Order: sequence, then C-alpha cells, then structure tokens
Amino acid sequence: MDERQRIEQLRAELHRHNHAYYVLNQPEISDFEFDQLMRELQDLEQRHPELADPNSPTQRVGSDLSHEFRQVVHRRPMLSLANTYNRDEVREWYERVSEGLSGQSFQVCCEMKFDGLSISLHYRNGRLEQAVTRGDGVQGDDVTENVRTIRSIPLILPPEANCPDEFEIRGEVLMPWESFEALNRERAEAEEPLFANPRNAASGTLKSKNSAVVAQRRLDAYLYYLLGDDIPGESHYDNLQEARRWGFKIGPQMRLVNTLQEIYDYIDYWDVERKNLPVATDGIVLKVNSLAQQRSLGLTAKSPRWAIAYKFMAERQSTILREVTFQVGRTGAITPVANMDPIQLSGTVVRRATLNNEDFIRKFDLHLGDHVFVEKGGEIIPKIVDVDVEARDENLGPRVEFITRCPECGTPLVRYEGEAAHYCPNDTSCPPQLKGRIEHFISRKAMNIDSLGPETVAEYFRRGIIRDPADLYEIRRDQISGARGQKDKSASKILQGIQQSTQVPFERVLYALGIRFVGETAAKTLARYFKSIDRLAEASMDELLQVNGIGEVIAQSIQSWFQNAQNQWFVDRLRSYGVQMELSEEELSQHSDTLQGQSIVISGVFAHHSRDEYKALIERHGGKNVGSISAKTSFILAGENMGPAKLEKAQKLGIRIVGEDEFLSMIE
Ligand code: IVH
Repeated sequence: MDERQRIEQLRAELHRHNHAYYVLNQPEISDFEFDQLMRELQDLEQRHPELADPNSPTQRVGSDLSHEFRQVVHRRPMLSLANTYNRDEVREWYERVSEGLSGQSFQVCCEMKFDGLSISLHYRNGRLEQAVTRGDGVQGDDVTENVRTIRSIPLILPPEANCPDEFEIRGEVLMPWESFEALNRERAEAEEPLFANPRNAASGTLKSKNSAVVAQRRLDAYLYYLLGDDIPGESHYDNLQEARRWGFKIGPQMRLVNTLQEIYDYIDYWDVERKNLPVATDGIVLKVNSLAQQRSLGLTAKSPRWAIAYKFMAERQSTILREVTFQVGRTGAITPVANMDPIQLSGTVVRRATLNNEDFIRKFDLHLGDHVFVEKGGEIIPKIVDVDVEARDENLGPRVEFITRCPECGTPLVRYEGEAAHYCPNDTSCPPQLKGRIEHFISRKAMNIDSLGPETVAEYFRRGIIRDPADLYEIRRDQISGARGQKDKSASKILQGIQQSTQVPFERVLYALGIRFVGETAAKTLARYFKSIDRLAEASMDELLQVNGIGEVIAQSIQSWFQNAQNQWFVDRLRSYGVQMELSEEELSQHSDTLQGQSIVISGVFAHHSRDEYKALIERHGGKNVGSISAKTSFILAGENMGPAKLEKAQKLGIRIVGEDEFLSMIE
C-alpha cells in the first residue's frame, strides 16, 4: 500500500471511530489506539501537503488563525416554529391539522426541542461543504470551519451510506451540561465572566473567530430535519432514520404517534425525564409525519402549519423569604437580593434570588416571611416570579423596604429620572465602586493589563496598595511579591503589564478613565476630535455638542467629570507616569475627516484588507460603520459576494455601492 492509500484508509477509519465514539457512544478502540492512528495520519499528511483535505479527521482541532464569517443566503429559508404552552393549544393545533387534511388520518412525529442554536449543514457528494447559522432565517453566517471541529458531525459520509449527491440537514448545536459546567468552572478560575446557560455558551462558542477555541469547548449537535431534491423517504421519520444510518446524530427520543392522547403521554413523560438528558431541552416539537401531508398543509409567513413547539414550563418551587440584602455594583447600582429557605431547583440548591429593583419589590408587595415562587428558566440566576398572598398568616414579617443609604459607605442613594435602579453617587470613595473603576481601567478594551485579574485587584485593594487606578503605577515589587503565594516571576509579569499599558493609545485611555456614559465609541470620537485630554477638559458645552454622536447627557457628564478636582489630580498623576494623554504623531498623520458624518455599511468579502481593518479605516477617517442599510446610509463598501438581500435593499433605496479600490482611493 502506498502512502496515499494509507492516508485514505486512515481517514476512513478515523471517521468511523469518531462516529462510534461521539454519535453511537460505543467506542471500538481505546483512546490510546485512536491517538496512535491520528498521529500516523498527521505525520503522513505533513509529508504530503498536496493531499490536504479540510474534511480530514486531523482538521477537527481547528486553527488559531482568526477568520471572519461570510454571510450566506440559505438555499431554502430557515423557518421557525409557532409555540404552544399548554394542552389546549396542542389540541387546537391537532384539530387544525386534522381539518386541514379534511379528516384524513395522520401520524405525528414527536421529538425533543433542543435548546441550542440552529444550524444548516450542506453536503455534496458525501462531504460536508458548508455550515451556516440560522441568522435572520434568510441569510446566516458561514461557520463551516468551526463546525468541522464538532466531533459528532460527520465530515465525510461512508460510501455505503448511498446518500443523495446534494442535501441539507438541519439541527441544533448544543453545549452538553457537562462541558458547560466545566467551561464555567474554568472561567470562574480565570476570573472571566460566566455564561448564563448552555445556549449562550454554545452560541458564543460557535461564533468564535478562532476555531481552535471551538474545538476545545466540546460542542455537540442533534439533527432534526432533512431537506433536498432527492431525499430518500416519504416521511419525516423515515428520512431521519435514514440520516441516522448515514452517520448523523438524531435524538433517540423521537417517536411516531397516532393520537392526541399519545402526544400528551409523550409530553408528560419527557417533562420529567428530560432532566436526565445530557443536553438542555426547552420543549417538545410535533411534526406531521407524511411529507405529502406536510406539503398539503403548507406554511404561514413565519412557520410551517405542519409543525408546532410545545414549551415546557420552567421549573418552579415555593419557599419562604427570610431576608433582603443589598449589593453595590461597580457602577454604584444597588441590587436587592432575596435570601430564602434553601430549595432544590433543576438539580441545584437555591438560597438566593435577584429582586431587580424597588419597583419589583413593590409590585409583589413583598414581606419577610412571604411564600414566594422561584423559577430557574434555563438561566443560572434564579428569580422570584410570584408571591402566594393567600398563604400569609400571623407569622408574616414586616414589608420589605428599599434602603435609603449605601450599605457600603452610608451615602444617601439617588434614583435618576427614568431609571429603575438606585445608585450610590459616591464614586470617589465607595469601596465597590473604587474597585470597579480599577477593574474597568485594566479591562481588555481599556488599558488591557491582563496580568491582573479582579481577585488580585480585590486583594491589593484590601491590603491598601491601590485605591485608584493611578496607584497601579506606583506599585513596588516588594509590595506584591510573596503575596497570595505569588512568585517573583508573577510579580514581574504584573509590573511589566502595568508598565506596558503606558503605550496604550489615547482613545483607550479616555475610555479607561470611566467617565459616565463615555463608552468605547464616544471615547474614540472624542479622542479624534479633540486630540488631547487638555483640549477635551477645556471644551465648552457648545464645543462638545458639535461632535458627531455626542449629546447633552454625555457632554454634561464630561463637563462635571473634569470639574471635579479629584479627577483632575487623577489625570495629572496618570500623565506623570507616562500614560498617553494625546494622539500620537502616527495616529495624527493617519487620521482625516474625509468621511466625517457618513454612515457606511460593509458587505461581502474583501481582497486587500479584512472587514475589521476596513471598519478601523472608516473610523480613522471620521466615518461611522453601521450594521444595516437604511435611508440614512451614505454608501455601501462592497466586496465580492455581497448578500442579495442587501443588494436589493440598496437598489431600492438608491444607495451608492463603492468597491474596495474606489474606497481606498477615496481616503488616500
Ligand atoms: S424543526 C420548519 N425540530 O426550535 C421546522 N426545530 O422555533 C424547523 N429546534 O429554529 C424546525 N429542536 O432551532 C425543529 N426537534 C426540533 C427542534 C427544533 C429545537 C429549534 C430550532 C428552531 C426553533 C423553532
């Protein structure tokens, strides 16, 4: 056997083992043997770059190279399902179907409603060709590179599958509970924000620009809909059985039923049993089984008449409210928290739930000792959804009152007009706010001091080493080495990270200052307009309002920030440590106002620069990059393969389309 044949043999064998392990859950060889085969294939592929194949099993590990997602129009639009929430609505649907079929008998295929994000996989000649997210149903993102890393999705179907030359199969990409929990544990350790639920985690992961990250996150996929011009069966159920034979993972819960009663039984069974499934589900999907009957029932504007979703009620428990405590967030926002008798909810013990704000407490007229209903609707943070007023007795405690002073610093709270939250206005010395300011200052989009995390900041704060962000630049090595078991090496890394931040461009420094309402975009605009902190600090209200995108609220906030003597001193200190307080020569020379006041949409694929680079170029020249086309769009910067929907809209509104080269000469 020559090496070329061996490569093919290894690929086929590894695809088969992948299927046995990730789809069937029945591995035939040990992990060690699998790794051996994989290594052999990797070596051979390295020696034969001419035989590279994106669908080789070796490609499942993804790549670190960042990529952009291309927008792709779905060959057949991706519809959604109408929802029902109780048996009566299910019965009404069943009767409508029966009527629509003029009383013919029909079967219904019952399936789980998987709670992830929908994906369309396109196969040609037995090979995965393209994977596209649902997007708006008409077009979605091409996420093929990322999807290749999902082990349960077949990249190449075995020849004996005898599948059609061209077909599409749709399903749900999911993060299994186990992977989800492991991921959140890792993120908690790395002091990164947690994902609220597996659906958000799966979606965030699938849209990652780095497919190596996707490969590590262990996604899974269940398929539930086969489409194409020559698909094998006459019924939905048969088609999915066939697809299962080809190697796809189809939910084993799928059942065919003949009566409404059997549908109810299916719902009752899975409402309980779903808690034992490895992935999140949020309901049941009912589909008329016969394709001929599906065609005769047809579609409404948004969803097929032949299918419907039944959504499970979120799990709910009753318990007793014992105490309300108040937390102060980084921005000074106060969150009331309910402390309750512990209860079991979706497999975890729940003791605390958010009460959102004062209006929420008023709405339920909450009293201590109240019987409250708590839900965990797929989210991690439980919420109180109702109060059992009937259950109140002589043991009922006092009404819950919102506090009037900050629990951390005692300052009287304020409630800004039109806002639901109370705030502690003491942003110069309230401890959680000070910590919050430092955390904001070092965050990735601000000074990007990633050698420091929130826990280290909290520790330094507690020990009195830092009180405001400028103190960071005064930290001495002897203050931090040895602390929290830190080795000298880690102390050096922290100091180096802080030192490097003095090179961060002015626009990000401006954002890092944490002036209320001055977000990333406003900071950029202001930096480019005023070019230095001194000019910004001196700007009058009128001058500020001249700037595109700066309104009353932001202008007010900037003025009062610079009027505060503490803030002036803060800026002076940062400046003395070398932090950038004006645009650099280089930035000054790269900027212009050629595109001042123009709203520009970017669409398609480009040859000379990436999409992000074009976005940066637009901003550097005073323009604004916007996501969707409207009458206000100045022009569209269009590359190859601009989406047809966008093209049509642009033509309808008479908006100019500018090619890549033309654009580059515009800003030259
Ligand atoms: S069938 C035309 N089956 O629920 C029928 N959808 O709003 C298309 N979903 O976007 C969908 N499990 O993401 C179908 N077994 C299942 C499903 C399912 C989850 C999702 C899907 C769709 C949404 C419906």
